[in-house]
Amino acid sequence: MLPDFKNKIVLAPMEDVTEPPFRLICKRLGADVVYTEFISVEGLVRNAKKAREKLFFYEEERPIAIQIYGGIEESMAESAKICESVNPDFIDINCGCWVKNVVARGEGAGLLRDLPKMQRIAESVMNNTSLPVTLKTRLGWDENSIVIVDAAKMLEKIGIQALTVHCRLRTQGNKGDADWSWIKKIKDAGVKIPIILNGNIKTPEDVKFAFDNYEPDAIMIGQGAIQNLWIFSQAKEYLAKGSYAEPTLDEKLDICIEHLKLNHKSKGDHGILEIRKFYSGYLKGLANVSKFRMELMKIIELDAVIDKLEEIRVYYSKEMA
Ligand SMILES: Cc1cc2nc3c(=O)[nH]c(=O)nc-3n(C[C@H](O)[C@H](O)[C@H](O)COP(=O)(O)O)c2cc1C
Repeated sequence: MLPDFKNKIVLAPMEDVTEPPFRLICKRLGADVVYTEFISVEGLVRNAKKAREKLFFYEEERPIAIQIYGGIEESMAESAKICESVNPDFIDINCGCWVKNVVARGEGAGLLRDLPKMQRIAESVMNNTSLPVTLKTRLGWDENSIVIVDAAKMLEKIGIQALTVHCRLRTQGNKGDADWSWIKKIKDAGVKIPIILNGNIKTPEDVKFAFDNYEPDAIMIGQGAIQNLWIFSQAKEYLAKGSYAEPTLDEKLDICIEHLKLNHKSKGDHGILEIRKFYSGYLKGLANVSKFRMELMKIIELDAVIDKLEEIRVYYSKEMA
């Protein structure tokens, strides 16, 4: 079933980031909806191990979307059935990936230059699943070709059930300003399906500003959640009370250790390497922490990483006392 997106704060799909452990932690810390990283439909139809593994999610993560991308209708259709077999809450189609080799194949954001093909790709998924289907895209290819209002109208008409708009252009990648005003323009054009605003939301204040001024149904956070996993609950607190608390050192370290253990359980020692991209977020705000972070980067055994995190706890508890 499509989740209720009204006033929700959701975690963005991010390749090599939104794997099950990170998604689960974000869910526990207040993310209302989560998405898998994008999965190649060609990988799914070839039954490639890497693609199939990405279909896994914990029941506790629900509501969850499986996100797929591709440019061949038959593969999209077949993948819709494969996704349905693992029973996510809905399927999301990626039409926003900016990476060169993806767009060169007419996939991801490449579809912004060919809306009739975007329509056929969306229909090939919708016609082959009973699950709700949503789509994520950008404003347009570049500043001279912003097509999001036309795209939103077309997608609503064919039955896409919600639309995430990454309010940047393909030419911007994932960096720089995002123009949230397009969300209101889509709403003003009469589009009624839930519209999820995404791009450059970094603080609870950004969340409130975007809700207050641009009328999105929901807000999706990507890089801001890597830097601050508490952003979901903080934003909710801020919307309700006008203020929010920072997590304590103990809360940060407890969650970091939980995340580490989940990673290790799901990926073995490789999971210890993969959590490294989150240390700067967990340890943010601690004075002169780079020395400890560098040390953490060199450790490859679970118990030794936990010992180092406990050493950080003791060190900063004394500093703060
Ligand atoms: C490391 C990384 C991986 C990403 N992978 C995906 C992906 O798999 N699917 C997708 O739709 N968007 C992907 N994105 C884009 C994000 O979902 C999001 O649209 C973008 O980062 C803008 O939001 P933000 O400014 O809050 O980060 C990725 C972004 C980053 C930084």
